[in-house]
Amino acid sequence: MCGIVGCILKNDDDVAPILFDCISKLEYRGYDSIGLATYSENKIHIKKDKGKIKEVDDKLNLTDMPGNFGIAHVRWATHGDPSKLNSHPHVDEKRNVAVVHNGIIENYLEIKENLISEGHVFKSDTDTEVIPHLIEKFMNEGFDLEHAVRKTIDIIHGAYAIAAISTDEPDKIVATRKDSPLIVGIGEEGYYLASDSPAILKYARDIIYPEKGEIVVLDKNGVVVHDEFDNVVNKEIETINWTPEMAEKEGYDHFMIKEINEQSTAVRNTLTQKENIQEIIDDIDDIQRICFVACGTSYHAALSGKYLIESLAGVPTDVILASEFKYSAKTLNDKTLVVFISQSGETADSLKALDVANETSKTLAIVNVAGSSMTRRAKYVIQTQAGPEIGVAATKTYVAQLTSIYLFAALLAKDDELLKELDKVPDYIDETLESKELIKQLSKRYNYTNDFFYLGRGFTYPTALEGALKLKEISYIHGEGYAAGELKHGPLALIDKRTPVVVIVPPGDAHRKTMSNLEEVKSRGANVLAIGSASDDALKTKASDVISINPEVNELIAPLVYIVPLQLVAYYITIEKEYDPDKPRNLAKCVTVE
Ligand code: F6R
Repeated sequence: MCGIVGCILKNDDDVAPILFDCISKLEYRGYDSIGLATYSENKIHIKKDKGKIKEVDDKLNLTDMPGNFGIAHVRWATHGDPSKLNSHPHVDEKRNVAVVHNGIIENYLEIKENLISEGHVFKSDTDTEVIPHLIEKFMNEGFDLEHAVRKTIDIIHGAYAIAAISTDEPDKIVATRKDSPLIVGIGEEGYYLASDSPAILKYARDIIYPEKGEIVVLDKNGVVVHDEFDNVVNKEIETINWTPEMAEKEGYDHFMIKEINEQSTAVRNTLTQKENIQEIIDDIDDIQRICFVACGTSYHAALSGKYLIESLAGVPTDVILASEFKYSAKTLNDKTLVVFISQSGETADSLKALDVANETSKTLAIVNVAGSSMTRRAKYVIQTQAGPEIGVAATKTYVAQLTSIYLFAALLAKDDELLKELDKVPDYIDETLESKELIKQLSKRYNYTNDFFYLGRGFTYPTALEGALKLKEISYIHGEGYAAGELKHGPLALIDKRTPVVVIVPPGDAHRKTMSNLEEVKSRGANVLAIGSASDDALKTKASDVISINPEVNELIAPLVYIVPLQLVAYYITIEKEYDPDKPRNLAKCVTVE
């Protein structure tokens, strides 16, 4: 959902190559357009256009711009088409102020009308363009850049992370945020701003996290942060333990396949959170109900949480989509634990719900990005240890979320057997990944269709939903996840020989009934791709194709392992169709608008 960076170097080298390098690392946040602004010799230089970073760079040579400080942006369009005019940075009409922005200014139309009536001239359809005009207006009234930004945020409503530079007050970058992420990096050679840490890992790993309404000023001597009353704030500096290499492809064709392959490590590292989770459980005694809140893939992890916690610990558990949360928040009380799940920790819908839940209940956030807004607002935090995830489609963060939830459920239920079994999951995942080549070949047979169904029952129902989501978001094939028993209540009407049905059928209580559901779709002519145990001979005779899972895992553990072939099927079908799995159309890694 748009990415911004800023950098000011301590020496006089040109900053453009660094800005370009940093913003390229944020392409997963938006890929409609890219733009850079630098300052030198009393002038703001801007290069920007619509298109992917490489296309725009080939055309404009983005690293060739003068000046030792500047700002940059990748866009995920909200207001106005992807176009050169709508690309950031945006400027005032005299080009004295340049701004990059991530978020949405909700009252921009009203502000724009007022500014137009005062003689300001607008060029774009964006909400952002009001910001440089407001800053210019306040600078013309005698405010310095920092205070002009402060006056501006008193007027704008919505979510924003903003970075601004000005010819009237060169050699500094002023930034601020509300409800959109922004971090400040302190490096050897300069000072940095970014929406997300992978942008600047190569240059700075000492990080300051500005809070809502704080104003950050970067110059070549350092970083100063002021609170809303203009007092200097002594910010804590936190060091990120992610390395720059973790955010590189390291020889893989795509981040997505790299991240699928890193899942055993993600699980192994997340299992180290056991003690922290036990401490949280010890602290939250007297909980009578658990309520999970999340979006998308994280919602599917949450749904697994319901099955696990209810069956193992017997605590009534609900799962609510974050965007629907406020409509059902009335039943929360201080005996409810509300658990938020998010890889980014910045999802606007979830953050809004977290604020509501904090008013009545204990809140716990399961988050992958350290220092993200959710980790700062929830009472308890479980940090998943998946490392940076760059592919837009969540894979390793999903299994890391599941791992945290399994640990939570097992510790809550004091289920030592399950805790022991969890330690084996990294090996199970690695063994499953050995079937990669086979799955690749099989996937070629399944890219002919426009519709897929995914069936799971009990613990693997959320796995079916997640498998279908992976397929649709990257291959653009419609995939629909269903509880296996539900299909006959309507959607069975859609099944014919052109409809492949993926049936997830691990050993366990649900096996027999899921096999009956498999027969139902097969007798309507469907091509059945089944995922089951390697020892399940009956399955091999019933399904058209079988992906055999060699480690003999039962249905309780299956969600952590059976998702792997489903991710691979989605990935290989996408490759076969020659789409980019890392940057699916219309999507972005971090959804910072409601
Ligand atoms: C799908 C995907 C999204 C996210 C959703 C929530 O692959 O990544 O569905 O799961 O946008 O994002 P987070 O987890 O950052 O709150």
